Amino acid sequence: MPQQLVITGGQALNGEIKISGAKNSALKLMCAALLTEEPVTLTNIPALRDVDTLCSLFEFMGATCKRDGSTLTIQAKTLGVRAPYELVSKMRASVLVLGPLMARFGRAEVAMPGGCAIGDRPLDITQHGFERLGAKFIFEHGMMWVKNKLKGAHIHLRLPSVGATENLMLAATMAEGTTVIDNAACEPEIADLANLLNAMGAKVKGAGTSKIEIEGVTRLHGATQAVMPDRIESGSYLIAALLAGGEKGVTIRNSPNFAMQAFFEVIRSSGAVFNEVDESTLFVPHQDRHFTAVDVLTDYYPGFATDLQAQTMIFATQCNGISKVYEKIYENRLMHAAELRNMNAKIEVVNPQLALVHGQAKLSGAHVRCTDLRGGMAVVLAGLVAKGYTTVHDIQHLDRGYEKLEQKLSALGAKIERVESEAAA
Ligand code: EPU
Repeated sequence: MPQQLVITGGQALNGEIKISGAKNSALKLMCAALLTEEPVTLTNIPALRDVDTLCSLFEFMGATCKRDGSTLTIQAKTLGVRAPYELVSKMRASVLVLGPLMARFGRAEVAMPGGCAIGDRPLDITQHGFERLGAKFIFEHGMMWVKNKLKGAHIHLRLPSVGATENLMLAATMAEGTTVIDNAACEPEIADLANLLNAMGAKVKGAGTSKIEIEGVTRLHGATQAVMPDRIESGSYLIAALLAGGEKGVTIRNSPNFAMQAFFEVIRSSGAVFNEVDESTLFVPHQDRHFTAVDVLTDYYPGFATDLQAQTMIFATQCNGISKVYEKIYENRLMHAAELRNMNAKIEVVNPQLALVHGQAKLSGAHVRCTDLRGGMAVVLAGLVAKGYTTVHDIQHLDRGYEKLEQKLSALGAKIERVESEAAA
């Protein structure tokens, strides 16, 4: 039965919250485990639907996934080369099995994931990169059939695509010779992936910069690594604390502060106050909430993360003046604006990538839905400060990427409850 979240707005948040392992790192580290027959153990794995979906895909392909709390051990002793539509379409990151399959077997049959709520999300950059490594693609019946033994090459990416960089890194670890990826994505999750690959015996240099060099090796072995903390989860709770923090304030622990600087700069430009207590702790004191309007321009890392755009839009509704939100990465990632408008936010969507947010909105609770994972978090944040009750629908999106969302917010003092559809009707 579908579930919903019911939030009673206006409760003050106080206390401590601990950030979980990053979804967008965990999924990639899991894919790296397919490169070896030996077990790979990952700690700090978040309990998320996307992690479960990827485990189901791996199990379908013949690998074993053993979960013990936040520890996950994957062993791909034997592995089929087919990733079917039913599983790939649930989560685009499943396409990352292409790299390991090509590295290990020189063959892969992966369903095309199609577009999603936030845009088309083509795979041309990934395809071009694999072709530079010598792969041959056939697209038929909604599948990509890819084959050939890979050889190191110089690859220039048209855009610094996160997924393409990671897929090519995975593939190049066991390609013959040296691969150079130019204009590579620099996201911290890519450095996390390189750390695991190197611990497995790969030779990857420069991950986290725009030039990555990979010297192919003949085999990789098992290893253990902790998943880095989730910068997007941390940023989401930082906004919650700024908008709803009480007298005692909110401490955010296990936050990867180094990876959040562009976001911090925008938030601080509003006059909001928070302290980077140390490299992994934030303290958000009670605010006077006289924030001024902000300018948000999403960009590739180290720019402002697109995955924090929706949450920052709700912050902007509480600032004084008109904030500009420009979404550069995706062509259709302002869908949450319509949901927020249902709650009395004054947001003009000038075009599918630009919104003007009129500040000091008096939000009121309403029935709203999660348009996607991050848009979902935006309506939850709105619900925390809105007057009255907010019922959040389509929360399967939130379950993909926020571990123990309502437990974490409740522990801070929020009134947020998960209910079955019928009870909420
Ligand atoms: N793009 C192309 N061609 C390609 C690949 C990408 O045109 O071949 C375009 C995309 O359409 C998009 C842009 O380039 O407009 C960025 O795509 P990228 O490949 O960098 O993103 P991704 O790997 O598909 C990851 C995260 C996203 C996050 C982006 C950008 C994972 C599993 N997903 O996606 O996370 O928005 O990087 O930082 O790591 C989320 O967590 O909510 C989420 C959507």
